[in-house]
Amino acid sequence: MLFGSATAAYQVEGAWNEDGKSENIWDRLSHQEPCVIAEPMVTLYHWDLPQKLQDLGGWTNSLIVDWFTDYSRVAFELFGDRVKYWFTINEPDSICDLGYGVAKLAPLSNYSGYSDYLCSKNILLAHAKVYHLYDDEYRSKQGGTIGIVISAPWQEPESEEHAEAAEEARQFKWGIYANPIFSKKGDFPEVIKQRVAVKSMIQGFPRSRLPEFTSKEVEFIKGTSDFFGLNHYSSALIYRNESVYGYYNQPSLNDDTNVISYEDSSWEGYYIKIAPWGFYKLLTKIREDYDNPPIFITENGYATLGGLEDHDRIKYFTQYLDAILDAIEEGSDIRVYTAWSLMDNFEWLYGYTLRFGLYEVDYESPERTRTPRKSAYFYKQIVRTHTLDHLYEPDMSVPLSIDEGH
Ligand code: BGC
Repeated sequence: MLFGSATAAYQVEGAWNEDGKSENIWDRLSHQEPCVIAEPMVTLYHWDLPQKLQDLGGWTNSLIVDWFTDYSRVAFELFGDRVKYWFTINEPDSICDLGYGVAKLAPLSNYSGYSDYLCSKNILLAHAKVYHLYDDEYRSKQGGTIGIVISAPWQEPESEEHAEAAEEARQFKWGIYANPIFSKKGDFPEVIKQRVAVKSMIQGFPRSRLPEFTSKEVEFIKGTSDFFGLNHYSSALIYRNESVYGYYNQPSLNDDTNVISYEDSSWEGYYIKIAPWGFYKLLTKIREDYDNPPIFITENGYATLGGLEDHDRIKYFTQYLDAILDAIEEGSDIRVYTAWSLMDNFEWLYGYTLRFGLYEVDYESPERTRTPRKSAYFYKQIVRTHTLDHLYEPDMSVPLSIDEGH
């Protein structure tokens, strides 16, 4: 009897393109279709900026472009052998608008109408620089894929006469990030450049509050995402509201948009309104406006105040996944869906009150016990079968284990 322990070249060696070695079928598969292989997905920045950098101005200081690049290099060096999906920045509009504009997220700064746009410019440059870093120095060695995550609600005109207003609202909300990266022309959307310039003039500023990109920067940013990372939760209705600071009282991105946004009171849902038709419209728009990019849906989910029998969350996921299927049938290239969220967590300014988890966390227990909600069983069924059974009734008496290989 001979004993040993076995391994195989591809499974341990790496160095796939060293010393004249040519590409093999596993190199091709794992580099071109990383989706078929189980591996982690990593977001480099999901809002936890070191306070010391915030003290220096945070995302309004243009030096952050280099700080973020230095940090990303460390992450690529340390983890790039294992991580094949990189997301540079999660939800630039939350960071800039909510963090620097209307003070709803840290750092709760409200120099709106100026620092929020400065933040947008620096975020786009920082993202692009990190994309180029990965592309130039790491992609050939590590074979991963990298992009940005943009958060977009669907903004629906209240009536046909507000169609233009709704389209402008979309540009101010997320086109401000999508256009520079995904459109053929690049740069901030024209409507934003013109509107902010005119409003700034009326408001007595010596120049537009919107910083400009040089033509070199426009080219540098254009095309810097391998996919369209998308977070989507719900929709809103839009109507036109021309004001100089009528409604908002001070210069701000919201004031510049010249619209009012609200949710229809007839829509179902507690904190998140259930409006799946909006998701379908959003996915269609991204397909049509940006030449059908691969879409990675990185967040989509529903909040409750707790409880294991979360039928509303199941309804939400069923209807939103249905909307995704409709978009796929019409040609959208949707490759990834990750539900928000695995378990209840710290919901920013809402603390531990709003609960997004498939798993409930008992914050009172020393172990912070996690218990699967009904939606966890439901979601497992979807992941296992890749089908959406509207009548599926999860059996919560069967233990749910993540060790079952699904
Ligand atoms: C954010 C998450 C947040 C979730 C629910 C997303 O915009 O990326 O951090 O918990 O929304 O509000």
